[in-house]
Amino acid sequence: MFNIKTKIKSIFLELPIGSTITVMGWVRTFRNNQFISLNDGSTIQNLQLYLPLGSFDDSICKRLTTSSSIKATGELISSQGKGQEIELKVEKLEILGDSPADLYPLQPKKHNLEFLREQAHLRMRTNTFGSVFRIRHELAFAIHSYFHQRGFLYWHTPIITSSDAEGAGEMFRVTTLPPTGASTLPDGSLDFNADFFGKQTHLTVSGQLEGELAAMAFGEIYTFGPTFRAENSNTTRHLAEFWMVEPEMAFYDLEDNMDLAESFIKSIIQQVLSQGREDLQFLEQRLIDEEMQLPADKRSPYTLIQKLELVRDTPFVRISYTEAVNILIQSNPYKKKKFAYDIQWGMDLQSEHERYLVEKHFKQPVIVYNYPKEIKAFYMRQNTDGKTVAAMDILAPGIGEIVGGSQREERYDMLLSRMNQLQIPHQQLHWYLDTRRFGTVPHAGFGLGFERMVQFVTGMSNIRDVIPFPRTPKSALY
Ligand code: 4AD
Ligand code: MG
Repeated sequence: MFNIKTKIKSIFLELPIGSTITVMGWVRTFRNNQFISLNDGSTIQNLQLYLPLGSFDDSICKRLTTSSSIKATGELISSQGKGQEIELKVEKLEILGDSPADLYPLQPKKHNLEFLREQAHLRMRTNTFGSVFRIRHELAFAIHSYFHQRGFLYWHTPIITSSDAEGAGEMFRVTTLPPTGASTLPDGSLDFNADFFGKQTHLTVSGQLEGELAAMAFGEIYTFGPTFRAENSNTTRHLAEFWMVEPEMAFYDLEDNMDLAESFIKSIIQQVLSQGREDLQFLEQRLIDEEMQLPADKRSPYTLIQKLELVRDTPFVRISYTEAVNILIQSNPYKKKKFAYDIQWGMDLQSEHERYLVEKHFKQPVIVYNYPKEIKAFYMRQNTDGKTVAAMDILAPGIGEIVGGSQREERYDMLLSRMNQLQIPHQQLHWYLDTRRFGTVPHAGFGLGFERMVQFVTGMSNIRDVIPFPRTPKSALY
């Protein structure tokens, strides 16, 4: 019987002193042949188990090594010792799985994150990754509640697709054609008629286009699923496989879209502040310790929790792309040629520019809207100036772009002519164009990069440390 176990989290919540309880988990440490520190993943807190001296055989005690798994039953008592209020006085102890100390890769000490990345199958047993992944869960749950409470329909879009939602060509091919010897057409290209789907298919880069179809029937929908990009970006903010949240709303313009995105981000932050407090406190202290190594002027002016409260409580700055470029051109780093990339009207903002705006100039999240149409996707609504589209990006301190969205081009002729200009084949997207032919309405949506949001909330500096099994160029372990 395993379902008799009590989770350590609920023991700390309810403090059922005097009752007999069974716990199961993994040993963190065992000291003085008397005290086990046990973690079961339900909380950052370890439960102390007290083995009265001599009550268990040496042969058992020897096996209580880091990460061995055990089942223990005993009475919960107030602790005599310092450092914990309660402990379990063990009467029955069973070792479920040994963990030979000479072979187990993680020691009960601080390891650096690079080393732990190579041990991704075990790193969730550490305090840091325990907290990160509990917060990741809390955020995912908060996202679903936010939309569910507002009547948005959770919409599942395909992972395998035959269209390029972003028109950027950064797609992974999905095929069952043999690696060599596949039949080719007279012009030398692969014959996709012979492929599984009878046409060329890819892993999706975004569920947006299929999300728009649903918004034209249900009004307000959201997707939340994995997306894939074959962009060769080896940075602390890019993954080849990442999760994206994409709400799509009929009868919304760009301003409605910005209002929703801002309220959404604030609300999920609030949810984590209230539900993930212990883990946030741990991660906050971790950052404080880490920053102690830095010179005082390089340290962040806020603690992690203060930063989150600030974002929750302060309205986001909203500026047009044109204003953003003007601020950048007048900035000190621009004048002193400190930016690695040039910036002029028409160029895309690089992450150094985005970070200057949020971290140095405004010191809070910034929404930049109305970007030049040439640097944005084909589906964005064209503004009357003929130069810009109704796009918006939300830039967050320490991260840069966390949300990308737009009002969509709902006018059939305008959409068609933009697709023609960009040589996007209509046959492939006839179904998308159909929404503009049958009952088209103004609509808008955005995509939140889930891992970037987890990074922002946990303060982890590398995106590889907020997804359980990161996929990046040249790396796909597990
Ligand atoms: O700005 P993006 O490319 O927008 C879209 O895909 C739209 N279809 C969204 C929409 O309007 N429905 O991506 C959206 C967000 C970015 O702001 C960023 O946070 C994240 O997805 N993102 C990535 N996150 C991790 N690794 C990558 N390679 C990412 N590329 C984008
Ligand atoms: Mg973008």
